[in-house]
Amino acid sequence: MISAPERRVPSSELTPVLYRVVERRRETDDVVTLLLEPLDGERLSFRSGQFNMLSALGVGEVAISVSSSPHDSGPLRHTVRDVGAVTHALCSSDVGDVTGVRGPFGTDWGITGRPNSYDTVVVAGGIGLAPLRGAIEELVAARREDSGRVFVLVGAREPAQLVFLDDLAAWEEAGAVVRSTVDRPATGWSGRVGLVTRLLANAGFDALHCRVLMCGPEIMMRFTARALEELGVDPASVWVSLERNMQCGLGWCGHCQLGPLLLCRDGPVVNYLEASALMNERER
Ligand SMILES: Cc1cc2nc3c(=O)[nH]c(=O)nc-3n(C[C@H](O)[C@H](O)[C@H](O)COP(=O)(O)OP(=O)(O)OC[C@H]3O[C@@H](n4cnc5c(N)ncnc54)[C@H](O)[C@@H]3O)c2cc1C
Ligand code: FES
Repeated sequence: MISAPERRVPSSELTPVLYRVVERRRETDDVVTLLLEPLDGERLSFRSGQFNMLSALGVGEVAISVSSSPHDSGPLRHTVRDVGAVTHALCSSDVGDVTGVRGPFGTDWGITGRPNSYDTVVVAGGIGLAPLRGAIEELVAARREDSGRVFVLVGAREPAQLVFLDDLAAWEEAGAVVRSTVDRPATGWSGRVGLVTRLLANAGFDALHCRVLMCGPEIMMRFTARALEELGVDPASVWVSLERNMQCGLGWCGHCQLGPLLLCRDGPVVNYLEASALMNERER
């Protein structure tokens, strides 16, 4: 009799490991970055684009992307937007508070350890920059003379909702092309106004030799993918990160199902060719 291969599930996938908040940074009115260190043992390893289930003890558990780089030996970073009970409890954590971490889960942006001669275009809407932050850090750190250029194109509803302003400046300083835009300007804003799609045509990337990593509201990703295709970008070179309700994170409960995909296992990072038909099914 042939027995099914045994899948050994690391205990950190089933049981939250306790981490302490060692730093709390306010990014915007409703977005906070938590820097976490394990109470005992080693910090977990992950790849850019993966997520953890973070628990606010006594309140609940939610999926939050890791926003640090896998090569960063410091605390684990998660950037959380306060939208409901659990994210509110997480955003209200103080330095010294304890939170549970289960993971990492899901697919990644596919860049770790892979030099690339093509340009990489990162497109983010609002807090969609959080799941991409680690990848950008990796790409910027790994840039060599013979590697492709890195483009970071960011859109937000208002200037006050732009996250990681220090990082944007540091990436530009390190050689990335960084552009940001807002839908609605505010007093004192002298930057670009308009949707993120307006940044694409003049950014200067090689549309025929690039890969695109994208995260944001699905309507923004759809319009951006369409505009990229008009510029000549192959949809098979476009990768998106999708969000759905996550519970187990292990492909067991079905809560995160999107068509044939279980997004905790087959996502969150999915090729646009596969994602596009499914994204059209529903709008968040
Ligand atoms: C793979 C993945 C990665 C994520 N990464 C991040 C991240 O880095 N930072 C971050 O702030 N959030 C992230 N999210 C979204 C986060 O999980 C939800 O905001 C959270 O579950 C809301 O829980 P809550 O109890 O605070 O609010 P709830 O009371 O559950 O929800 C409040 C509102 O948020 C909406 N909502 C709930 N879950 C989601 C979801 N998964 N996607 C979109 N809207 C949702 C609800 O419809 C409702 O309108 C991610 C989600 C997934 C699936
Ligand atoms: S969250 Fe349970 S199957 Fe994906």
